Amino acid sequence: MCGIVGYIGPKNATPIILAGLKRLEYRGYDSAGLAVLENSHIEVRRDAGKLNQLEALVQAKPVSGNVGIGHTRWATHGVPNARNAHPHLGSTGEFVVVHNGIVENFLELREELGAEGVTFNSDTDTETIVHLVERYYALHHDLVTAVRMALNNLKGAHGVVVMSSREPDKIVAARIGNAGGVVLGLGEGENFVASDIPAILEHTRRVVFLESRQMAVVTRESLQVTTLEGQEIRPTVHTVAWDPVAAEKGEFRHFMQKEIHEQVRALTDTLAGRVDFDNGKIRLPQLNLDAEGAKKIKKIIITACGTAAHAGMVGKIYLERIARIPTEVDIASEFRYRDPIVDADTVVLAISQSGETADTLAAMEEGRQRGAKLWSIVNAIGSQAMRVADGFISMQSGPEIGVASTKAFTAPLVDLFMLAVLLGDLRGTLSEKERFDLVADLRLVPDLVGRCLDREDEIIPIARKMKDAAHMLYLGRGVNMPIAYEGALKLKEISYIHAEAYPAGEMKHGPIALVDKDMPVLAIAPLDPWYEKMISQIEQAKARGGSTLVVATEGDTRVPDLADHIFWVPKCPWLLSPIVTVIPLQMFAYHIAAQRGLDVDQPRNLAKSVTVE
Ligand code: F6R
Repeated sequence: MCGIVGYIGPKNATPIILAGLKRLEYRGYDSAGLAVLENSHIEVRRDAGKLNQLEALVQAKPVSGNVGIGHTRWATHGVPNARNAHPHLGSTGEFVVVHNGIVENFLELREELGAEGVTFNSDTDTETIVHLVERYYALHHDLVTAVRMALNNLKGAHGVVVMSSREPDKIVAARIGNAGGVVLGLGEGENFVASDIPAILEHTRRVVFLESRQMAVVTRESLQVTTLEGQEIRPTVHTVAWDPVAAEKGEFRHFMQKEIHEQVRALTDTLAGRVDFDNGKIRLPQLNLDAEGAKKIKKIIITACGTAAHAGMVGKIYLERIARIPTEVDIASEFRYRDPIVDADTVVLAISQSGETADTLAAMEEGRQRGAKLWSIVNAIGSQAMRVADGFISMQSGPEIGVASTKAFTAPLVDLFMLAVLLGDLRGTLSEKERFDLVADLRLVPDLVGRCLDREDEIIPIARKMKDAAHMLYLGRGVNMPIAYEGALKLKEISYIHAEAYPAGEMKHGPIALVDKDMPVLAIAPLDPWYEKMISQIEQAKARGGSTLVVATEGDTRVPDLADHIFWVPKCPWLLSPIVTVIPLQMFAYHIAAQRGLDVDQPRNLAKSVTVE
């Protein structure tokens, strides 16, 4: 979950690393540091806290050189202080390491190295790596061999980058397992290493992704990729289409706000080239799906975490209603340990913005072991979840920097809808008219979302009223039940207000006991088949003194009598309503957190890619 950047070339590495880390700060923000080779000597600057601490330190004690590595940390082992910040130097000061992942056997290694006389300067697991590199360099006098041997001692999953003043013409990077990717950026007379594309997008769009158990020797002019066993690999060079400007905040105060507003564009791109409105057809060529394959599917298991799992809950309704395929939604961290019933007629469908989430990748692996077909819906191009799948749908959201996911929630909803229509078509569960109607509905999506965004000014005063609430209860039913979960998650993760979500029909089975004047109830009640039931739920909450906030369809005449605050959304086909109703809830959470003066893009304790179990 940490961010890594490395540079080798003719320029000063320091500003390049700092700018790259800035773009990766969303991955971890407990501490940050960099190491630069200055006059054949490794200089390290690192500090606890956010990147601006490191920037201040570098300003006070400048450092420059043509080779360097940097890191922004999400602490796993060792408290987030300066001493535990990366990079970690070895005892000789000639080797330095940055690392993403967990050295699972670090206690054993620490003991072993301690017995050899090594003194540790931090409480981190990472420091063991640099001491191992030193141990093997002393024996073999070759950095690549030393790194390879050091890595063979590690248990767990890792992205590692090593630099040495003994061999100043190279950076060595390696990846083992799924602890986050390692991306190599190819420039002209300069090369880059990073944990994620946005860090280097400003410099190059030509990238190579390291697979598990591969390492790379990166020099100014060359890139050599091998397996950890030393076998040479011919890397595939990908060209990233993302626009670097997309990774800037622009006129917005926070990335989250910008990304909320980017949904119109993201959803337009999601439909582009995939929906043939004239013929009422969906095309998802990267799924590699034909009628025979579609008819063979007996069950779909959607697996994902957090927001992506909420998208999956809506997807279940689409796949069952439209394609008539039994569909389960399984939280990835549960699925892998549950001895699930999966066979060759099952599709395991992973949803992941980062494509790196350790639990989701492990769930995919579990599905693979049991013979399932693997599909994924992924945003990060070239990520593991995209690469290991038999077929995938690429979200067209562009880089998502805000830790709270927004545009990478609505894009998969549209992807799942398109998937359901495609499967329904191939399996013959849809009449021609139904198919045409569903496809035609998709055309409305970007405009509907845009109309919700236009109402942002109405949401700000509601957020102001509610910003000091201690708790909130979110209720929804049917296709909008997952939106209650998603709305509550958005609120709690960025505003730290306790928010609970329930399927509204469950209220009478317990949670209604919570409702009093101090428990605001937020109900999602657009004009969908559950509307009447939601209305009676709101009435019950109102009768118990709770203040009510309601997401309602423009023109609704009953909600104004019941609601203290209304989030109006445009009238829309009910199956697509979750894509619309979630928009005001994203803005509501955003404005509450912003008004509470919180760090919206980097909420406490969270990281954008959760690459540890
Ligand atoms: C919440 C949020 C997380 C992620 C979850 C899965 O706003 O962003 O709940 O949805 O960590 O991440 P991905 O989609 O990268 O697998």
